[in-house]
Amino acid sequence: MDIGSQYGPLRAEIDAAIAGVLDTGRFILGPHVAALEEEIGQELGGRHCVGVANGTDALVIALNALDVGPGDEVITTPYTFYATAEAIARMGAVPVFCDVRPDDFCIDPDLVEARITPRTKALLPVHIFGHPADMPALQKVADRHGLPVIEDAAQAYGASDGGVPVGAMGDIATFSFFPTKNLPGIGDGGMVVCKDPDVAARVRRLRFHGSKDKVVFEEVGYNSRLDELQAAVIRIFLKHVHGWNDGRRAAARAYAEAGLGELMTLPAERDGAHHIYHLYMARHDDREVVQKALSAKGVSNAVYYGIPMHLQPVFAHLGYREGDLPVAEEAARTALALPMHPFLTAEQARYVVDALAQSREAVG
Ligand SMILES: Cc1ncc(COP(=O)(O)O)c(C=O)c1O
Repeated sequence: MDIGSQYGPLRAEIDAAIAGVLDTGRFILGPHVAALEEEIGQELGGRHCVGVANGTDALVIALNALDVGPGDEVITTPYTFYATAEAIARMGAVPVFCDVRPDDFCIDPDLVEARITPRTKALLPVHIFGHPADMPALQKVADRHGLPVIEDAAQAYGASDGGVPVGAMGDIATFSFFPTKNLPGIGDGGMVVCKDPDVAARVRRLRFHGSKDKVVFEEVGYNSRLDELQAAVIRIFLKHVHGWNDGRRAAARAYAEAGLGELMTLPAERDGAHHIYHLYMARHDDREVVQKALSAKGVSNAVYYGIPMHLQPVFAHLGYREGDLPVAEEAARTALALPMHPFLTAEQARYVVDALAQSREAVG
């Protein structure tokens, strides 16, 4: 990541936006939060958006708004950031982990149906690394069983499937504006996106202690509001995010054109899917050797989700064993994030590939 290259050219605009908020003295749920909700809602085909404190709260509040609670099960992917599964457990429900597809790392719709029980309350796919989960296939399963779908779109603002943007496909979607996300803030922030205006009204209450007006408290809620300063800055980034996503896609093409596919398995893009490469995850059987070769040439690289959720100590009581979800386990063992940001040049991509090619004998 290279956050500075994103913010540098916008610094004066960011400073002015922050100064503007200071001038008004409206720090909580002011006009920028309302405007950002409106702007993202418009991009997502008129969906109803509610800004919250972070992407994890967005998930918790979304689950709460669908009345997910103790005794319920929510089917999700084991190959994700912990927050996805944590939010389910936080509501007292049980995450039921379903294996992923080997090509795009997203939950495999063909395996979901077998995991549905009378206790299943929702499906929670993740558009992992910026690739959209196969929502049309998941929606068919959900419709057959009358289940709502929550999209965890924390890593995928601007990704789409068949031209429909993520966030506009499920019953509820959640975004994170964590500073490393492809639509970032300069601190924590999140958004809940709802298809149904009544659900959105409940999410709006939940983010503010379960109250519409600070006078009458209708249910136990949260103090989880998107900060006005964050909203002011995210609105600036929103104007650039699609261009940034194009830059990420160009960087992915540059890796392919530089011949990375001869050395590692490239990340796939399903037909009709628009991947925004929040992270660029390539695979290799001897990941450690690749890491050493890259690090020796000063190329940063990182393992994400090296232990899939079903094998995390916190979920040991659920009884999963190694080998239960082999595709996710294989991804956790072999996938490696290579440098990726909107301004990564073809030359830099070539440098990464050369670093690997030079140690080809070791890499194999
Ligand atoms: C897939 C996924 N879900 C949820 C979250 C939680 O977002 P946040 O860090 O804003 O709470 C993140 C990011 O950290 C994420 O990557």
